[in-house]
Amino acid sequence: MANAKKAPYPLALCVTADDFAAAAKEVLPEKAWVYVSSSAASGLSLKANLDDWSRINFRPRIMRSVSAIDTRRAILGQPGQFPFFVSAMGTLGNAHPGAEPLLARGSTRKGLHMVVSTATSKPLEEIMDAHRDEQRLLGNQSPSRLAFQLYMPVDRSKAKSLIQRVKAAGYHSLWITVDTSILGKRTADRYLQAQELLEQGARERELAAENEFGPAFGGRPVPGYLDPGLSWEDLAWIKQEWSGPIVLKGLQTVEDVKIAVEHGVQGVLLSNHGGRQIHSAPSALMTLLEIRNYYPEALEKLEIYVDGGLRDGADALKALCLGATAVGVGRPYFYAMAAYGMEGIEKCTDVLAEEVEITMKMLGVSSLDQLKPEMVNATRLLNEMWRPETVRARL
Ligand SMILES: Cc1cc2nc3c(=O)[nH]c(=O)nc-3n(C[C@H](O)[C@H](O)[C@H](O)COP(=O)(O)O)c2cc1C
Repeated sequence: MANAKKAPYPLALCVTADDFAAAAKEVLPEKAWVYVSSSAASGLSLKANLDDWSRINFRPRIMRSVSAIDTRRAILGQPGQFPFFVSAMGTLGNAHPGAEPLLARGSTRKGLHMVVSTATSKPLEEIMDAHRDEQRLLGNQSPSRLAFQLYMPVDRSKAKSLIQRVKAAGYHSLWITVDTSILGKRTADRYLQAQELLEQGARERELAAENEFGPAFGGRPVPGYLDPGLSWEDLAWIKQEWSGPIVLKGLQTVEDVKIAVEHGVQGVLLSNHGGRQIHSAPSALMTLLEIRNYYPEALEKLEIYVDGGLRDGADALKALCLGATAVGVGRPYFYAMAAYGMEGIEKCTDVLAEEVEITMKMLGVSSLDQLKPEMVNATRLLNEMWRPETVRARL
């Protein structure tokens, strides 16, 4: 399954994040390509993610000195080189034999924060070791930190020991995925599974040897590792086990953001899981607008991140103008790593970073703190934003 050969498409011709997808398609086995590229149902949630970035325009200012540009942005108090980070992705062994340790090394080199999935191909300790080793090689100069994404196991004793391992390994924060009471219906993978059944007569459960929570092939979960019973009450239990920062990943409405604030978490990641979970989901940008309109206090009370469909670094600035702290990037890193290994990870970061830099200059800002809501026109999205059915409706 793992892919080690480099894409015939020259790396030098990867000028945009989308170019990595085309290169990865050339080298990935079909099963791995389906895993990463697939989305829920007819693909509307993924389409919303991709489209909504283009429905916000900049309102650039001129004649402001932008000779020196500062792209740094902290997440949960940890400085980072850029306003984007690597979102959690499971089973990266499907992209490259170096799997998560390789992506952790690449992120560290570039000063990027990375969220490590529960469903990794390699043990979480090995991924942290790779990060630490890279830090050592860099003289501990990288601001990069690893966060851990938690899929809450049904068995609380397993959950407890997993959280203890995450703590012992030194992960910075815990990002609990809350949009996965069940795995979404990934249409392309359903076709693939049906085809396999037709060919093999019976499907064997594939398990990764090195992580009991990681399936050998992503998108087909290990039984018991997603908890459909997870509720707000479980947060109290998690807080007993984990004293560090907590981020909830996968919120899609302002109402839930309000509840998250009430529960005292440090951050929320607005996300529809890259369009892989519920059909016809709102994009993270749409949810961000809901927050701005109906509960702007949230922007002061916790950090708000967004992910889904970011394919141009410039777009990260749109989210920041609207109050987001940073933007997560998923598939482009999977593709870049699949096609070119470490070189791909670094180039993907360079592409997104350059887009951030040139857009900051043309927007007239020299630091990210200068971004303001007035620097974007989000009217097209606002026109379609959810409105309570009656004026009396309260959150
Ligand atoms: C191949 C793949 C695997 C993913 N695995 C996980 C996961 O293990 N846990 C999780 O919370 N989200 C997972 N996600 C969702 C990402 O964290 C993120 O929300 C999404 O990829 C962002 O959209 P983008 O890929 O368009 O950038 C995965 C996404 C992809 C594409």
